[in-house]
Amino acid sequence: MRTNIVYEGADELTYEIREIVEVGHNIRATGVDIVWENIGDPVAKGEKIPSWIKDIVAEMVKDDASYAYSPTRGLLETREYIAKERNLEGGIRITPDDILFFNGLGDAIGKVYTYLNSRARVIGPNPAYSTHSSAEAAHASSHHITYRLDPKNKWYPDLADMRRKIEANPDIAGILIVNPDNPTGMVYPEKILKEIVVLAREFNLFIISDEIYSNLFYGVEHKKLASVIGDVPGIAMRGISKEFPWPGSRCGWVEFYNRDKDADFARYAKTLLDAKMLEVCSATLPQKVLPRVMGDPRYYPYLAARNAAYRKKADIACTIFSQVPGLIVNKPNGAFYLTVVFKEGVLDGTESLKAANPEAAKIIEPLMKTDKLDKRFVYSLLASAGICVVPLSSGFNSDLFGFRMTLLEPDEAKFRSIVERIAAAIREYVK
Ligand SMILES: Cc1ncc(COP(=O)(O)O)c(C=O)c1O
Repeated sequence: MRTNIVYEGADELTYEIREIVEVGHNIRATGVDIVWENIGDPVAKGEKIPSWIKDIVAEMVKDDASYAYSPTRGLLETREYIAKERNLEGGIRITPDDILFFNGLGDAIGKVYTYLNSRARVIGPNPAYSTHSSAEAAHASSHHITYRLDPKNKWYPDLADMRRKIEANPDIAGILIVNPDNPTGMVYPEKILKEIVVLAREFNLFIISDEIYSNLFYGVEHKKLASVIGDVPGIAMRGISKEFPWPGSRCGWVEFYNRDKDADFARYAKTLLDAKMLEVCSATLPQKVLPRVMGDPRYYPYLAARNAAYRKKADIACTIFSQVPGLIVNKPNGAFYLTVVFKEGVLDGTESLKAANPEAAKIIEPLMKTDKLDKRFVYSLLASAGICVVPLSSGFNSDLFGFRMTLLEPDEAKFRSIVERIAAAIREYVK
């Protein structure tokens, strides 16, 4: 090309969670049954949508207004509903104008970083959810800057590491938290949230809190950013992909906090609204459905039942994995993932598993030449047991070796058997 047409941040855009699927499909073609433990779509994993939710959607489908554009910010009645709910919870008060709808949080995440000044950086957790880390890195054409989540301390963030990096890098303008966290399932305790707010206030930063899993937690209390933010500028991100669950609806929203406290933050928030205006609006149907579903008396009992099932599976998996030497396992308290870490020095790159057949062995052979030692394990597991999990290093931008699986398998006996098969494969692999 006469002029370079390649986007400066192109190399930063990776999404291993989906890339591994291609290898899985090739292995399936050799006759191996694959258990897809790689992707966080409850519906794809067999979660049944309650019939009363389907009835509400069906009713809305019959309304011609569901086929129209909606206002750029989102339907007023839906934003009013969300603002009212938020204000009932206590903490910061918001109005419908503080809410902006997107076509899923993926869309929101893309825009939040794209329209941030390219010098301004947002520090995020390590391990990282790759949509955030890739989008942030691509906007700055540089690797994502991270603070450590500590697997030896329940995956809580290392606040000393966060402070050190913020002090050392004046380009850091914001702190990202994902609460509950993907991939670790960690829920930020209120005390830690408050410490992060103090840090943000001290260094004049804004906070982004991805709360897509904020109604999916068990065994601990969950606090939203809204309850602790005080006067610090912030953005909370919510959506219905995981909760209803309806990931195919492509519906999520952001809530802006304290736009009136900082002119730059207000200008940035307006840029996001202006950018959304160029697209007219986000999908209308799920916005029409949202207040009816979330406001239904059956909604929270339904979520409570799902949370109880995730908690049980978290217990099952942690009991099994904690008996395998060489692993660090923390029980998740939110979302529907479990992350297992190989202790330092446990993997040395010489391990292998017998593949299910010679063709499967051939498919993974070139992929085994990598210094990402957890990736070697993940491909070996795929070719031998047909179980597809995601490596922590390349899938979640982490310097730890490990993998993420889900707690989504609805059949508890099948779930137990999947975990037992993974545990047996690890024992065999590292022996
Ligand atoms: C932490 C987190 N944020 C955002 C998303 C994207 O959600 P959406 O379906 O709304 O684009 C996901 C999806 O897995 C996620 O795990």
